[in-house]
Amino acid sequence: MYLTKDEERMLRGEDDYVAMKCMEYLVKYGEAAGAQRLIDIDGTVNARPASGIAGVDLAGPEMRGKKVRVFTHMGQTQTPVDGWEDVGFAPWNDPAHHQEFVEALKPGLRCGVHPTLSCTYYLVSTVPPTVGRHCAWTESSAMPWCNAILGARTNLDGCFAAAYVGKIPEYGMHLDENRVGTHLVKVDAKLRSPMDYDLVGFHVGDLVGMDVPVFTGLPTPSVNELIKLNSALNTTGAVWMYHIPGVTPEGPTVEAAFNGEPPTETLHVGWEELKSAYDTLNQTGSTETVDFVFIGCPHCTLDQLREVAAMLEGRRCRSTLWIMTNPWTFRLAEFMGYRATIKQAGGILLSGTCPGLMGCLPPNTEVMATNSAKQGYYIHGLVYPRKLGVWYGTTKDCIQAALTGQWRGTWQEGA
Ligand code: F3S
Repeated sequence: MYLTKDEERMLRGEDDYVAMKCMEYLVKYGEAAGAQRLIDIDGTVNARPASGIAGVDLAGPEMRGKKVRVFTHMGQTQTPVDGWEDVGFAPWNDPAHHQEFVEALKPGLRCGVHPTLSCTYYLVSTVPPTVGRHCAWTESSAMPWCNAILGARTNLDGCFAAAYVGKIPEYGMHLDENRVGTHLVKVDAKLRSPMDYDLVGFHVGDLVGMDVPVFTGLPTPSVNELIKLNSALNTTGAVWMYHIPGVTPEGPTVEAAFNGEPPTETLHVGWEELKSAYDTLNQTGSTETVDFVFIGCPHCTLDQLREVAAMLEGRRCRSTLWIMTNPWTFRLAEFMGYRATIKQAGGILLSGTCPGLMGCLPPNTEVMATNSAKQGYYIHGLVYPRKLGVWYGTTKDCIQAALTGQWRGTWQEGA
């Protein structure tokens, strides 16, 4: 891989041991990925809280006084950031455990990494990258947010090394040719809700894998709908880039999205395909009794919390209800009284994580319900070998299940 004189100097460790270790990592990574060179990050980095690099202890003496070069977020965590005292079981509700978690964040904070602590960090960042900027991000719903929605450029490679030297191997999504549409996806169903977008993503991700779909037939999606589409595309597939001509910035027309070339394949998505995705997501729903309801994968926006709080107002849950958001929206939800409404109904508002990341569910959960294709899909493997029944449906179906303790959700076109 070609390195500039400055990069070679860093790699030899002539001015900074930490930069040398970061460069060793990035060069090995770039060579494995087939990159020709490193490029400067002029956007942002997202790294998981504990993601250091081989050979460098973020809390060690070599990091004293050192800072990352580019704006960097810490993403989602394995521990609830807010609301942990309400969880009701160990170790999450143990103050000592929470303090340990807070202490573990400090080395990252000292080197200038911002504790966004959410998978939806891109919604609470004050510095979203603009079109064409190079980034190093992580997290499934965030990847297309960067590439497709913002028109910035990232592979799935956010890490401390990239943040520290401000460089990343140039391959994949950083190159124009990999951002061109491959599959034309004609959506014939008239989508109306975030669940419809979730199902489109779940179905299409499975068919296109790592390719670049170009969607037609979608009405102008809302932020909540795009978040669902993104996370589901990266559940059954690994879609880092797509185009919605007229909505996303890089393909203003279908022709431009394909760079004037014909698509490799054309797919049709109608209600039949979406019903089939819905059935797949409900195939383990066993008994009608629901022990646990989870809302907030990806982490809820303030708008979603407003909606959920309105459904819970003056009512009382029979099942355990967790609603997950990011720490900054959590504070606004407290300010607006949404947390108090959720709490009065017996629900728990949390931030920063999810059952999948925590790798656990409330004790004795045999059947859960969720409005997220991603959480519903992954949770089986994440709590394996424990057997779990999972119901999937709209936010309203899930809140009804929490209030009644029973699953009554049914398939409805455009629910
Ligand atoms: Fe976020 Fe967990 Fe879903 S980190 S995207 S809520 S799997």
